Amino acid sequence: MKGLLSAFILLVELSLTRLVITAQQCCSPQCIALPTLFGAHILNFTAAPASNYTALVGQNGAVLTGNYTIGQFCNVSIQYTHPGWNDTINVRVWLPMDGWNGRFQGTGGGGWTTGAYQGSTSDYVLPAVANGYAAANTDGGHDSNLAHPDWALSSPGNVNFFLLQDFASVALSDMTILGKQVTQSFYGRAPYRSYWNGCSTGGRQGLMLAQRFPDLYDGILALAPAINWDSFIVAEYWAQHLDAYTLAAIAACDGLDGVIDGIVSNETACNFDPTSIVGQIFMCNGTVPRQYSGAGAIIVKAAWTGPVNPVSGKREWYGLNKDANLTAGIVGTQTIATANGTTTVGAPFSISTDWIKYFIACNASYAVTNMTDAAYFANLHQSRNRYAGIIDTSDPDLSLFKSNGGKMITWHGMTDRLIFPNGSVDYYQRVLEQDPNAADFYRLFLVPGVEHCRNGPVAGMGPYPVDVLDTLVQWVENGRAPNVLLTKNLSSPTQSYSRNVCVWPKVQTYVGGDASATSSFVCV
Ligand SMILES: *[C@@H]1O[C@H](CO)[C@@H](O)[C@H](O)[C@H]1NC(C)=O
Ligand SMILES: *[C@@H]1O[C@H](CO)[C@@H](O)[C@H](O)[C@H]1NC(C)=O
Ligand SMILES: *[C@@H]1O[C@H](CO)[C@@H](O)[C@H](O)[C@H]1NC(C)=O
Ligand SMILES: *[C@@H]1O[C@H](CO)[C@@H](O)[C@H](O)[C@H]1NC(C)=O
Ligand SMILES: *[C@@H]1O[C@H](CO)[C@@H](O)[C@H](O)[C@H]1NC(C)=O
Ligand SMILES: *[C@@H]1O[C@H](CO)[C@@H](O)[C@H](O)[C@H]1NC(C)=O
Ligand SMILES: *[C@@H]1O[C@H](CO)[C@@H](O)[C@H](O)[C@H]1NC(C)=O
Ligand SMILES: *[C@@H]1O[C@H](CO)[C@@H](O)[C@H](O)[C@H]1NC(C)=O
Ligand SMILES: *[C@@H]1O[C@H](CO)[C@@H](O)[C@H](O)[C@H]1NC(C)=O
Ligand SMILES: *[C@@H]1O[C@H](CO)[C@@H](O)[C@H](O)[C@H]1NC(C)=O
Ligand SMILES: *[C@@H]1O[C@H](CO)[C@@H](O)[C@H](O)[C@H]1NC(C)=O
Ligand SMILES: *[C@@H]1O[C@H](CO)[C@@H](O)[C@H](O)[C@H]1NC(C)=O
Repeated sequence: MKGLLSAFILLVELSLTRLVITAQQCCSPQCIALPTLFGAHILNFTAAPASNYTALVGQNGAVLTGNYTIGQFCNVSIQYTHPGWNDTINVRVWLPMDGWNGRFQGTGGGGWTTGAYQGSTSDYVLPAVANGYAAANTDGGHDSNLAHPDWALSSPGNVNFFLLQDFASVALSDMTILGKQVTQSFYGRAPYRSYWNGCSTGGRQGLMLAQRFPDLYDGILALAPAINWDSFIVAEYWAQHLDAYTLAAIAACDGLDGVIDGIVSNETACNFDPTSIVGQIFMCNGTVPRQYSGAGAIIVKAAWTGPVNPVSGKREWYGLNKDANLTAGIVGTQTIATANGTTTVGAPFSISTDWIKYFIACNASYAVTNMTDAAYFANLHQSRNRYAGIIDTSDPDLSLFKSNGGKMITWHGMTDRLIFPNGSVDYYQRVLEQDPNAADFYRLFLVPGVEHCRNGPVAGMGPYPVDVLDTLVQWVENGRAPNVLLTKNLSSPTQSYSRNVCVWPKVQTYVGGDASATSSFVCV
């Protein structure tokens, strides 16, 4: 009865909203109040109607691939600075003219991007508005077209801490406060509920909001989150570090046996440091193919285990699951042309090398591939020591978010090749240590056969979570906590099937019957 009543009230509220919207078609800087934000100085404020906007958006966390279209909307842009920080930040707020669902959606970025630009295939704002939300994002003060962090150093040797703070946290609350004000001014009423939607960097941003700005969002999707940034970003380089080490050894010694073939056959002549791990496994002369597979085995093991400090024996971070794609991820290699043909070198994940170069060494020309083991672990230590409070985003104390009535969902693809799924489990376990009833407001789902925020080839083509934002809305607004996430096989439309992914720590278990039927699995 109570549910029916509140549903009725919501309907009345929403139809009132529609009345307001039809009356308020004025989209201009004169009609919308200039937003204010403590600590910020507004540089430019524009608002202009736009219509029939269509663009392709790719699969990205809770967003499914599609050409999304918005009819009429109000396109608001806010440019501001934090005086003294020498930053210039752009916030985009898009407000549907018809069919506003009464809600606000803050949308996240990916990699170094705080929020994707208009027209990007990672633009979350477009699908949000197409689904009736007033939606916003921010560029965080650096060009989202250029994800490469050339913004990282103010000058050689000096990290631009202001822009790093903007990227890590500050711009997220700014955007939300500005976006909500603009929404309220445009429609004449505050948004009924607010949601965050992000994957990867966007997932980390969602956790940052829950941890540091716990009153801004009622519901948060923090998917495949880049938490423990200062640890895992360096850990991503671990297998590559060995890979590059191996390939450097091969490159150094290859020609010594008289043939450039990618094989070291003459260990006697090879002055490569024999105390290194890679040095030990070179079995030269005669056992040619086994040399490569020996090196390969070590690299693969490193990718699965995570960085283990050879001095202390301590494992410093997690590794990937065994079905994650290694060659397309952190163990990637590339073939490059040389004077004498081609050679194979490592292709490290650029965010990892950029972080080490710009933020740890503070040196744009730092030779990441030349790090010794000692330098690697010293850099990992520096990363944690200097950046934990800025971008680690792993505070397990979510009590304020909880007491504000917030609800949060994290899913993490188990074949993720970039962000270690065990990092999400690690965080969730620490949240549970703080609050054994954390499942009342925060739930984790590990999704088998799903890649980093999307499906991937071969092992990453498993059934994909659909309707996750609606699941969160149901939880926030109707108290329906999800025990499962509905997934669908999106990779093969002809073999479409659904399957439920169980709330952690339960796992999907086959109980017999048609393997493509949801009912053939239970959560145990
Ligand atoms: C404000 O933005 C508009 C639209 O992008 C631009 O034409 C104008 O030059 C900007 N004004 C300032 C002061 O930057
Ligand atoms: C929204 O406004 C910005 C700033 O004036 C402009 O660059 C952008 O193209 C506009 N978008 C649409 C869809 O009209
Ligand atoms: C938008 O599309 C609709 C339907 O195709 C059309 O009737 C309308 O004129 C278009 N509006 C603009 C401004 O192009
Ligand atoms: C999006 O639209 C383009 C151009 O009309 C079309 O080629 C493409 O197949 C569409 N993609 C999807 C996923 O619908
Ligand atoms: C402010 O940042 C710009 C680049 O965005 C730079 O060119 C300029 O030198 C900076 N000014 C100061 C005072 O640091
Ligand atoms: C291996 O290197 C050593 C030392 O440079 C050299 O004496 C020997 O001839 C080399 N062997 C071959 C097969 O090239
Ligand atoms: C190494 O290989 C060369 C030529 O392939 C061969 O003559 C030599 O006996 C081998 N040495 C050993 C120790 O197997
Ligand atoms: C990740 O977690 C799983 C399950 O808890 C465990 O079996 C595996 O060893 C862990 N892997 C790493 C690299 O920590
Ligand atoms: C490439 O080949 C030339 C001629 O055979 C040789 O002098 C040179 O050392 C080789 N370079 C490398 C990097 O092996
Ligand atoms: C920057 O890195 C390069 C390459 O490793 C090195 O030669 C140079 O000395 C470094 N600069 C500083 C100031 O450490
Ligand atoms: C990396 O090490 C190699 C081998 O010692 C050396 O030739 C190269 O110059 C180094 N690169 C940099 C940028 O220091
Ligand atoms: C890994 O990814 C690459 C590039 O997308 C693909 O060609 C390869 O088949 C994948 N391998 C596995 C085992 O998923």
